[in-house]
Amino acid sequence: MFDSLIDFIREQYRSNEFIPLHAPVFSGREREFVTETIASTFVSSVGAYVDRFESEIASFTGAPRAVATVNGTAALHIALQLAGVERGDLVITQPLSFVATCNAISYCGAEPVFVDVDRHTMGLSAVATEAWLVEHALVGDDYLCRTKADQKIIRACVPMHTFGHPVDIEGLVDVCARWCIAIVEDAAESLGSLYKGQHTGVFGLLGTLSFNGNKIITTGGGGMILANEALADRAKHLTTTAKTPHPYEYIHDEVGYNYRLPNLNAALGCAQLEQLDKFVGAKRALASRYQDLLRDSPLAFVTEPVDCRSNYWLNAVICQDSLQRDALLNETNEHGVMTRPVWALMNHLKMYSHCRRGELINSEWLEARVVNLPSSILPELIP
Ligand SMILES: Cc1ncc(COP(=O)(O)O)c(C=O)c1O
Repeated sequence: MFDSLIDFIREQYRSNEFIPLHAPVFSGREREFVTETIASTFVSSVGAYVDRFESEIASFTGAPRAVATVNGTAALHIALQLAGVERGDLVITQPLSFVATCNAISYCGAEPVFVDVDRHTMGLSAVATEAWLVEHALVGDDYLCRTKADQKIIRACVPMHTFGHPVDIEGLVDVCARWCIAIVEDAAESLGSLYKGQHTGVFGLLGTLSFNGNKIITTGGGGMILANEALADRAKHLTTTAKTPHPYEYIHDEVGYNYRLPNLNAALGCAQLEQLDKFVGAKRALASRYQDLLRDSPLAFVTEPVDCRSNYWLNAVICQDSLQRDALLNETNEHGVMTRPVWALMNHLKMYSHCRRGELINSEWLEARVVNLPSSILPELIP
């Protein structure tokens, strides 16, 4: 049934072997930077590549500052803490996300509240967020947003730029400002994606990135917090065991975390970052080939939202129904072409099944239909 799609993918990747969903590309100075780091012996918690990676990510994204972390989940955990999230708080997020988003909320002792996504962005809906708040919350004289039923503080909101497609961030900034809720943008998947010309991850109070092996650029494992100067200073302190500067004494002034990115990983990141613009170009070129191929097909290819420039990190199609989705998944995977359904909705996972939620019509609709297609960068498309 999906022969032409499978043939097309095999042709693109010029391979009769197994085709993964997303493999990293190391076509720049990765070996040079990593070898140099090994030679310097500064492979671990201090080293010039960490500082360089942070300042280059800040200038690439336009964030005032960037603080490197051991992975994107750690970045989210610290960002939520810095947004003031405390034990017993509620945090609004989308049920259609990778589990790390909710896990980071749980690490703070808070609970997610699931609000629906927009179909066209697959990210948190500003309209649904406002509707949930109108029904369930009030802002007090102390400028805190609390639930009407049990006075729980709704401290933050975590939208996610699904597969690299920017969420309606302007709408969410407007809603959250009126309801006194801090935004932490989970931009793990959207490095290189722009909303009205501005990089994703810099609209909220804080933003976070991931450099896991499956992302558009990788450090092996790694993450980044995007923040203003004051919050970045706090993020640096918390992610480096809260050690106060001293030439030789060990003085730690609060409970901190060992969440720093090793210099070895940052070296890889600096070499990858040099190629990011080209990688985005190659990804967009592959997406446009998929779009052409699927123009008259029953599979609807997911394209970037209006006024946005997506990095097309993971290409996705929307099937007509779950039967067609299962047929597509089975046929492609049986033929050694890796495709995956979207994540199970977070409210369907047992540890989050008791959480508060609004109507999740679009999330459920997408959960039954979305399939990711192979999206590794094709070397020939690198400009
Ligand atoms: C949406 C989302 N949030 C958070 C993460 C967590 O990042 P990491 O794997 O680097 O911890 C990922 C990816 O892995 C992700 O896709």
